[in-house]
Parts: sequence; structure tokens; C-alpha cells
Amino acid sequence: MSSAAVGYAKENASRFLDDLKTLLRIPSVSTTPEHKGDVEKAANWVAAELKRIGMEHVDVLHGMGHPLVYADWLHAPGKPTVLCYAHYDVQPPDPLDEWVTPPFEPTERNGNLYARGAVDDKGQLVLQLKALEALLKKDGKLPLNVRVLYEGEEEVGGEHIAAFVREHPDRLKSDFALISDTELFAPELPTLTVGLRGMVYTELEVRGAKTDLHSGMYGGAAPNPFVALAQIIAGLKDRDGKILIPGFYDDVRKPSDDELKAWRSLPFDEEEYREKEVGASKLVGEKGYTVIERTWARPTLDVHGIVGGFIGAGAKTVIPAKATAKVSMRLVPDMTPEKSFRQYKDYVEKIKPEGVTVDVRLIHSGEPSVIRTDNPYVKAATQALKKVWGKDTVFIRSGGSIPIVGDFEKHLKIPSVMMGFGLPDDGLHAPNEKFHIPNFHRGIESLIVFFDELGK
Ligand code: BES
Ligand code: MN
Ligand code: MN
Repeated sequence: MSSAAVGYAKENASRFLDDLKTLLRIPSVSTTPEHKGDVEKAANWVAAELKRIGMEHVDVLHGMGHPLVYADWLHAPGKPTVLCYAHYDVQPPDPLDEWVTPPFEPTERNGNLYARGAVDDKGQLVLQLKALEALLKKDGKLPLNVRVLYEGEEEVGGEHIAAFVREHPDRLKSDFALISDTELFAPELPTLTVGLRGMVYTELEVRGAKTDLHSGMYGGAAPNPFVALAQIIAGLKDRDGKILIPGFYDDVRKPSDDELKAWRSLPFDEEEYREKEVGASKLVGEKGYTVIERTWARPTLDVHGIVGGFIGAGAKTVIPAKATAKVSMRLVPDMTPEKSFRQYKDYVEKIKPEGVTVDVRLIHSGEPSVIRTDNPYVKAATQALKKVWGKDTVFIRSGGSIPIVGDFEKHLKIPSVMMGFGLPDDGLHAPNEKFHIPNFHRGIESLIVFFDELGK
């Protein structure tokens, strides 16, 4: 039973952390082509671990893009089947000079493990591996049937896992998915995430003159694509954060009164959030909505980077021929990526200034989701969390996106349990990303107890 596996996890705690460090040393950045080999290496490491701990049918599935890692253990007749999901790819580590210790040299400091991917999502992938290892090594079996599906391109939209799920629902037949890729609402507060925003990630390319031009000879007569781009971007949102795309808010579903009430009772200090997490002089956003509503239940639009022109040291007097911006929108239920992208594209083309052309490209997209909670898996999760953390679980939404959750619902017809152990200040996607080490160990224990609950 579980107590033995929990004991095994405790005895092996430092080796478990060392194994995580080994994975963190592989710079599996999915978006940069130079790291393709590293992404492959991380997939192979994960597959080798799955084999070592006794999982079966371990397979690194190559197709387009980065590989999927599959495994299963299906020897618990009459018990439910869980589909374990996590991702082994990471975001780029830049800006490098802001890291206190290098991003791919995992380092312990003040009870935290610092590295790119520590919490998003290698640390949480390893939680699953270690819970399975403890159960298999100590009990010689698992309390329920387990399938594992890990991807290496979540951070770039997860296009190929979505295709795999769509095309092979039979190979993934399960009762529910366990997603280990979210966070606690506050330290020590057991949390299940029940909603995610969707995403439309785009690139805007504005072109003016046929070639770069001398800005003295042509300035004043030739169109400047950076100015045009700035004007387009400025037209997308007003100063109160309201998105100006016609029809954009049409399908936004209001959270229920119960949800709004529950959100109001969460321990949230807006001033602390502003100062400690955001670190800006003022928070911005739509009038009439709390910060929680703005980030969980309202769509938004952000610019991630503007590329092109002269960016070297010193000065060059040029009117660049083109300028590009990366712009994304976060969607909430019941918006759809297709409709939102169309509305955005039409609007950009309408507001672009004269003298330039604009190419509106879709890079990737994912559906928003709200998860069903009236099922035995969520119930077992809250029971397990209560045992390990000694507190009642809070249900939250997240402003982030995990596109596969919508696909599991749509193609496998299964609910997801999003049980994650990150902390709000873990620095996902930012310099000095960390995983709070006690959460790593308690996360493993939580999963062991959760699996045991389901096997009862
Ligand atoms: N793990 C995050 C999503 C997340 C963040 C969930 C915080 C809950 C709390 C995930 O790895 C992520 O970053 N997703 C991307 C998806 C996008 C590239 C489609 C995101 O949200 O930007
Ligand atoms: Mn993640
Ligand atoms: Mn991420």
C-alpha cells in the first residue's frame, strides 16, 4: 500500500532530486532549431527512465516536429485508467545575463532548485515518474492502469500531440487525464486548476518600400513600416486594456456567481501581487474587473517582440523595408481560435495605414477550457491532497494555456485533473525559474496517495 511507496520516496528523496537535475542539464528548448538534438536527448532520457522503473511499451514516437514519449502499465483490471501528461521541452532561457546561476546548471539555493524548466515542466514530469517508480519498486505493481504521454513541443503550441490524439484515440483510451503542469494558488494551499485560457499566436509583417532607404533622402515621403506597425498595435487596445477588435468579446462566457464568489474568498493581496510578482508601479487592465477576473476570465492581447530594422550599437539612418511583431491573444470560454483570428486579421487589415502592406500570419493556436469537476477523479484528488497537505483544496483557473487539455476533452471525451505544485513566484518563462524543493517531494507524495485512492 501507499505508506510503503511514500517511505520509498522519502528514502530516495535526494536521488530523485539528482535525477531531475540530470534532465534539467539538457537544454531542450523546443522553439530554437539549434536545440533539436537536445529535445531528442531529453525524450530519450525520459523514455529510458520509464523503462528502468518498469513501465511497458515505452516508445519514442517520431513524426513531424519533436517526439512524443508513450508508455503504459495496464495490469489493474477493474481499476480506472489514468493518462499522465507533462512536457519535457522548455522555453528559451534569455535574457541570459539576468540568471544568478546558469539556466542549464541546476543549482540549489534557499530551498529552491533553479534552472530553466525546473517547474515548467521537467520538475512536474519527474514528479509523475517518481510516484510511479516508488509504487512499482515498493509494491511491484500500480494501484490503477496508467498510460503516459509526454510531449516536447508544448511551449510552441503542441501541434503534433494534438494530431496524435485526434488520430489515435484508441491508443490512449483512458478514464481521465492527470496534467502535471500547473501551480498552487499560494504556498501550502492545495490547488486544482479547472480552467485555462486559449491562445492565438500571430506574427504581423509590415512592408513599405521595396528596399531599405536613406532616411534623409526619403524620410517624409517613404512609408516607415515601424511607425505603421506601432500604429496598428496601438489600434488594437485602448488605454484601459479593452481590445478594440469588433466582435471580439461576443462569445465571452461570464463566470458563474458561485465561481466569482469562490474567487473572492481566495487569499489574494493585490498590492503584494503588484509589488512582489509583477514589480511595476501600477497594474493595468479592464475597468470593472478584479485582477483575478482579468487574468482568468477575460481575453487579452499582448506583444512579445518587434523585430527588424537597425538594432546594432550606435546609429544608422535607415528606413527599413519591413518590420515584424509577435502578437498573441489569450481566449476564454466560449471564444474559438478560428473566429478570434479571423476578427483580428480583418481588423488589422482595416486599420493599417496607407503605403504599407501587412501580412497577418497564424503561428499556433489552442482552445480555452473549463474542466468538469463532478467526477470521482476530482474527488479522489481532493481527498489525496487533504491527506498530504492537511487542507481543503481550492479550485482556480489559470491565465496560462495548455492546449492539449481541450483536445483530451474533445477527442478522448475525458476530463482532466490539473494537479500541479508550482508556486506563483516560480518565474515560469522568466530568468531564475525555480522549483521549491519541498513542493517537489510533497508533489510526489501527493501523486502516490492520489493513485492509491483511485485504486481503492
Ligand atoms: N505550464 C504552462 C501553462 C500554465 C502556466 C498553466 C501557469 C498554469 C499556470 C505552459 O507550459 C505554458 O507556458 N503554455 C504556453 C502555451 C502556449 C505556448 C500555447 C503559454 O501559456 O504561454
Ligand atoms: Mn508547462
Ligand atoms: Mn510554459
